[in-house]
Amino acid sequence: MAEQVLLGVSGSIAAYKACELCRLLVKAGIDVQVIMTSHATELVGPSTFRSLSGNAVALDLFDDPSAPIHHIELAKAASVFVIAPATANIVNKLAAGVADDLLTTTALAFTGRLVVAPAANTQMYLDDTTQESIRTLEARGATILSPDIGALACGDKGPGRLPEPQVIADAVLQALKRSKALAGRHIVITAGPTREDFDPVRFVSNHSTGRMGYALARAALQMGAEVTLISGPVNLPAPVNDHLAFVPVVSAREMCEAVLHAAQSADVVLSAAAVADFRPQMTSDTKLKKYALSELSELEEGETVISVKLVQNPDIITQLSEARQAGSLKPDLVLVGFAAETNDIDSNAREKLVRKGLDLIVANDVSREDIGFASVDNEVLVISPESDTPIAKASKFEVAWRLLELVSDRLRRSDVD
Ligand code: C5P
Repeated sequence: MAEQVLLGVSGSIAAYKACELCRLLVKAGIDVQVIMTSHATELVGPSTFRSLSGNAVALDLFDDPSAPIHHIELAKAASVFVIAPATANIVNKLAAGVADDLLTTTALAFTGRLVVAPAANTQMYLDDTTQESIRTLEARGATILSPDIGALACGDKGPGRLPEPQVIADAVLQALKRSKALAGRHIVITAGPTREDFDPVRFVSNHSTGRMGYALARAALQMGAEVTLISGPVNLPAPVNDHLAFVPVVSAREMCEAVLHAAQSADVVLSAAAVADFRPQMTSDTKLKKYALSELSELEEGETVISVKLVQNPDIITQLSEARQAGSLKPDLVLVGFAAETNDIDSNAREKLVRKGLDLIVANDVSREDIGFASVDNEVLVISPESDTPIAKASKFEVAWRLLELVSDRLRRSDVD
């Protein structure tokens, strides 16, 4: 069966170029379902797209009486939704989650790969709101194509021209290829910090937000995988998807148990969690009195010093590597660790790769403010025993896709061996 792609066409003068895009996609063997906004129909007739795609063009929320929830049906049928041209209005509506016509309602219901090709007057494209919307969409995992620079229909010159149809078609084909790269694979992902309680109100933890792990989970789903996401406490909504099992945990020991269980059937484990290395030796079910945490030891320069005993937590990924070695997990299970470092990034990460018996380690510099912990972007070096692959600064989603592509290459190689 041909793969389905949704092509959203909005009301820019460049809408005529979407006809060529539609033709290129059909020529590549894709079943194209076109959705037009009412403004787009003022510029190109729906019958042109119907002839090119061989499918009825979707125009209105209520235009298919046989499908009671038309936008949901459309959103579920395709793994890639390309919006070309996307006017500044559509870009801003997508970022704000406005759903006031069939195109934007379908986009809101869509969970696959969104490819957006903006086309607008230069000022409207460069407007702060539009640029912020583009960043928002990128941070949520959409691919935004840069418009071409040149003469625009309004007479202005600058960025805002729709890229050539072939460039957009290539981006769609790339997104489709990615959408199958992990089909049939079970990917286990850990995310966030762990929290080690002293008592019901106090704990030891770290700054991990879980964003990288959640981006990996979403990217893996969009690449066709079955995903188990094991997450420490974070401020992110739990993803909901038929192909995702979400396992919330609090402590390192809970995470360890959940990972060892899920890893039984895993092809890949991505350990993006910042597992707390230590937990308090003493814990209490009721709130401890101020000094009950430990003995009051001494007074130093007027401050009370107390000492607390901590116990080392299990190293989850090392346990997995030992279990794989012992033959209790799939022998070609790919183990991927993450090394958040502040100095000597490469050598520290490489040492962890060897010590923990990993296949890949993803090193990033958490001393930089523009990447790593709590930021939207990341930039990493993927180290394997054989080679190093840098992934340039991009949104955590883009970094997640590129990393998963490396993982999928590795899985394919071990299928061949
Ligand atoms: O904390 P560290 O730098 O050693 O983390 C490196 C890798 O090991 C990460 O992938 C992390 O998720 C994993 N790890 C683990 N269990 C621990 C500590 C770290 O699986 N207790």
